[in-house]
Amino acid sequence: MELLTRDYLGNFGFRYLHTVAGICWIGLLYYFNLVQVPAFAAFGDEGKARNIAIDKVARRALWWFRWAAIATLVTGILITGLVKNYFKDFMTDTSGQGVGHDSAISIGMVIAILMAANVWMIIWKNQKIVLANAANVLAGGEANPAAPAAGRKALLASRQNFIFSFSMLFFMVGAAHFYNGAFAGATSGNAWTFFIIAIAITAILQINALGLLGGTAATNKLLWPYESHKNALITGGVLLLGLWILSEILLG
Ligand code: HEM
Repeated sequence: MELLTRDYLGNFGFRYLHTVAGICWIGLLYYFNLVQVPAFAAFGDEGKARNIAIDKVARRALWWFRWAAIATLVTGILITGLVKNYFKDFMTDTSGQGVGHDSAISIGMVIAILMAANVWMIIWKNQKIVLANAANVLAGGEANPAAPAAGRKALLASRQNFIFSFSMLFFMVGAAHFYNGAFAGATSGNAWTFFIIAIAITAILQINALGLLGGTAATNKLLWPYESHKNALITGGVLLLGLWILSEILLG
């Protein structure tokens, strides 16, 4: 059946589902960063209202958030498997789309996979503690003293994903629609240099967001990018600008 051929299912079908799932995931990431975290902070001392909001709103939002991340990851990997093997093509341009495209999609995918790992291994792992604590307190139980620290770890990872999202989408969408044109003639060596520098910067940011460069306390100055959503927006913009300029220098 033609519908099941690589082009229909792989090139278009999974691409469409991938975009829908990605919108759900990143849309909720933006909701958490731009709306929920500032709104919940505004509850201030109204502990009960805050716990109800965590229990009834955040719980539902987190369900869609973490499963949309899985759906995006799975459909993204299905595109690579069905259309072509990006990692085989990578930088040798057997894809025929130029090493600019191959390095861009590889950077986009590595950042997005790291973001999915953050969702499950940091954000969800810690939010489970926050959710359980809110439900327990609402039922009349004692507050868990470990809950604020867990919430803080989840917040740092969430703001790091917010920061990554702008560059991730730039390279993910730009692979086929920006980096395949004037960038197609870049050399393989330069594409590798670009990839390695981009991933090194990504790794440093990730290590910092985990608190491995001086802890997770607000006194750690290195955590400035995560102390407000405005700081995260600025950091995300600077990261995007830096990577784009680097790509112009190395691939353009
Ligand atoms: C989680 C890991 C992810 C993987 C492995 C992945 C993989 C891919 C691949 C292989 C492509 C095709 C690119 C090309 O042919 O040039 C693609 C395109 C795309 N991805 Fe992702 N992706 C991931 C996450 C995301 C996320 C979080 C979003 C957020 C919305 C997203 C949105 C898109 C969009 C909009 C396209 C462009 C489709 C097009 O222009 O044809 N992806 N992705």
